[in-house]
Amino acid sequence: MTFTHRHLLGIEHLRPEEIVTLLDLAEEYVDLNRAAKKHSDALAGLTQINMFFENSTRTQASFELAGKRLGADVMNMAMQASSISKGETLIDTAMTLNAMHPDLLVVRHPHSGAVDLLAQKVNCAVLNAGDGRHEHPTQALLDALTIRRAKGRLHRLNIAICGDIAHSRVARSNIILLGKMENRIRLIGPPTLMPAGIAEFGVEVYDDMAEGLKDVDVVMMLRLQKERMDGGFIPSEREYYHRFGLDADKLSHAKPDAIVMHPGPMNRGVEIDGTLADDINRSVIQDQVEMGVAVRMAAMDLLARNLRTVQGVA
Ligand code: NCD
Repeated sequence: MTFTHRHLLGIEHLRPEEIVTLLDLAEEYVDLNRAAKKHSDALAGLTQINMFFENSTRTQASFELAGKRLGADVMNMAMQASSISKGETLIDTAMTLNAMHPDLLVVRHPHSGAVDLLAQKVNCAVLNAGDGRHEHPTQALLDALTIRRAKGRLHRLNIAICGDIAHSRVARSNIILLGKMENRIRLIGPPTLMPAGIAEFGVEVYDDMAEGLKDVDVVMMLRLQKERMDGGFIPSEREYYHRFGLDADKLSHAKPDAIVMHPGPMNRGVEIDGTLADDINRSVIQDQVEMGVAVRMAAMDLLARNLRTVQGVA
């Protein structure tokens, strides 16, 4: 098997063949999730703890469902109610949980690098469910599976990632993954929302949607991450929608069979037109949610197999 990692911290650590291994296994879980009986015992006897220090709807729900379908004992920590709010540090909390012998720890944290730090302190497998503006590996993997299923391949595609790139861990993980799989990546957005040094990532940068979307196969929209902005990045949401919001007119510059993606949560009428988001002929947004559960099952299954090898348990 070509997946030997102890943790899933970022796409930057994965080789292309490991990405393919994970996506192939996820395909099997797509079938299981569509069956009447959705249970497997891949994680039977194991304990999974979800620690979300930032709000989440689909990522937390899908990690929880993924663990339960694989037979793990799943616990969601209510971080607002935890001792973190009494001043305990992230590491103290992690060490306390570690003493309870979890096998899988799923962590989302507002600070870039916090999940990597935590992984160094615990004995179990750690999955990064998003750290600051750094990485969100399972999101990029579920996006990759969605693209592969819709387009029949995951290489030599023209892919546009649009909007608030600077604050987006989704963009960062996707740029790394799609680059490793040899796609052409275009970033489209206002210069104020482009990260510094972006040229080093081997991408093309545009500040005009009509130009940037020309002949692309995939259009990936991003949410304006207002919680990570400290003022003045865009003139107004109205102006932003006018220039960068995806609607049928701007999409007409892409290939006629181009798919529309969004990781959610969406701001309808800000980065995307609501009708287009719901258009089942173009939008694969609901497929992304479905693939999310399957990809998280595959990721936890692979890490659990490695855990058992390290522990010497069959
Ligand atoms: C993303 C995130 O949290 O980074 N959402 C998600 O995981 N589905 C993107 C976002 O919050 O805009």
